[in-house]
Amino acid sequence: MPAEAPAALEWPDDVAREVAEAISHYPVKRSAILPLLWLAQRTWGWVPPAALRLVARTLGLDEPEVFGVATFYTMFNLQPVGRHHLQVCMTLSCSLMGSDRLFRHLEQRLGVGHGETTPDGRFTLRRVECLASCGSGPCMQVGFDYHENLDEAAVDALLERLE
Ligand code: FES
Repeated sequence: MPAEAPAALEWPDDVAREVAEAISHYPVKRSAILPLLWLAQRTWGWVPPAALRLVARTLGLDEPEVFGVATFYTMFNLQPVGRHHLQVCMTLSCSLMGSDRLFRHLEQRLGVGHGETTPDGRFTLRRVECLASCGSGPCMQVGFDYHENLDEAAVDALLERLE
């Protein structure tokens, strides 16, 4: 189920070690902003405002600086997402191969639209721009996995396999 936004967060001990290591890779501390945002998302499943504040505090940055970076990259989830984040490419090559039809199929099957999560917390559906797999569209990213050359039957079979 979607998580509530926590008021404050601290890095868990094991993650704090990864945070320190990430920072050590850069001559300037602020350069670790993207790795720290990734660590925050991996830790909490999304990047709540408290995590943005934590990243800012860790790197000695102003909160709007971190917010600006986090909102620029669409791969950072600033809202809670379901266990499976279905990101359907809607850019030209995939669109020509039927991604619009596929997206409508997913909307109907799941009963949710763009940016929405199913009530059971299982799936979040999202339209995204080019996933850089243009020769094998329609393409959908699920978590970190790519699924290519999709049609409705392949999507249905995939959904059945995902808990
Ligand atoms: S157009 Fe879909 S991956 Fe590039």
